[in-house]
Amino acid sequence: MAHETTELEREADRPVPPADAVASGFETLPHPHPKSEEQYAEQMSALGFGVDFSDHMAHATFTNELGWHRKVIEPYAPLSFDPGTAVLHYGQEIFEGLKAYRHDDGSIWTFRPLYNAARLNRSGARLAIPPLSFDDFMASIVGLVRADQRWVPEGEGSSLYLRPFIFASESFLGVRASARYEYIVAASPSGPYFTHGFQPIDVWVERTYHRAGPGGMGDAKTGGNYASSLLPKVKAHDEGFDEVMFLDARTNTTIDELGGMNVFVVMRDGSVITPELNGSILPGCTRSSIIRLLESEGTWVREEPLAIDDVVRGVASGAVTEMFACGTAAVVTSIGRLACDDFDVQVPVGPMTKHIYDELTGIQLGRVEDKFGWCYRIM
Ligand code: COI
Repeated sequence: MAHETTELEREADRPVPPADAVASGFETLPHPHPKSEEQYAEQMSALGFGVDFSDHMAHATFTNELGWHRKVIEPYAPLSFDPGTAVLHYGQEIFEGLKAYRHDDGSIWTFRPLYNAARLNRSGARLAIPPLSFDDFMASIVGLVRADQRWVPEGEGSSLYLRPFIFASESFLGVRASARYEYIVAASPSGPYFTHGFQPIDVWVERTYHRAGPGGMGDAKTGGNYASSLLPKVKAHDEGFDEVMFLDARTNTTIDELGGMNVFVVMRDGSVITPELNGSILPGCTRSSIIRLLESEGTWVREEPLAIDDVVRGVASGAVTEMFACGTAAVVTSIGRLACDDFDVQVPVGPMTKHIYDELTGIQLGRVEDKFGWCYRIM
């Protein structure tokens, strides 16, 4: 059965007003002392992932009385908050990740921004955080990237990573939804997420800890899900693994996701399987784009429960020919090894992963035709 369009995808496919029409939604307060040319050159010549930040950030505040207000692009600076601030105690927080790309002609674009806008509100609904209008989301992105255009790097694997987030900023220790929130977008000129480039990653399959469970927050992009993935990640790193694969919390048998990335399995018959969105899996923008891309090429994509035992058996028998993980930050990366207490298999690296990487990054960088209308011009 072909992929059924999700609500998120429907929202993401809505027409987006042109950048000039939304840009004034956030007022720009220029930085009086932006980073010097020397600092700028130093940071841009050695791009890590999420290490350095640009000159400005977008910022708006919500209160019950005023709604979202004080919408500005302001100098990037530390925040000062009372120790009683709710997010520090109960983790009422959501975030997003998207990128601004510089095309070969110098123009600057982003990719399916309404997917992020819609998912931010979906995550917000789960965490009792008030919604932000798509116009405000787009204004913050366009305003920030225009203000910090010099920080959009050029070239394959490089982008200005944009991190929108909302957190509970009321100072109050009672357990209830906050009456005040901050929306911020930080921008980080970034190179590849994995420093070892297009090398396959080694993945530990986690059977003791789960990142999310039925009725939990697994399909919301909230810090708590990532926090719960850190201990297993530390343990796996200590054993030499790059990432952790989480299984479903109810049966401990089917693959959920890697914590920061969705998973795909390529079968010998040419079909591709990815775990269905079961409520515990983040509905990734890259996941959605890959499904559409593959289906448009005639590939049969199956979204269904994916038993880890079947995958391991399939790797051993040759029925599974490739596995890869995907996300906005990492794009697409091959899984080269899958291990747990009772198995340790090498997964072949094949052409499908590279093909998808080339197509997606090609579209994002304006080098491959954007048949889907995913690219949005910022300037
Ligand atoms: C992304 O892929 O953008 C993510 O949010 C994953 C991770 C960096 C948190």
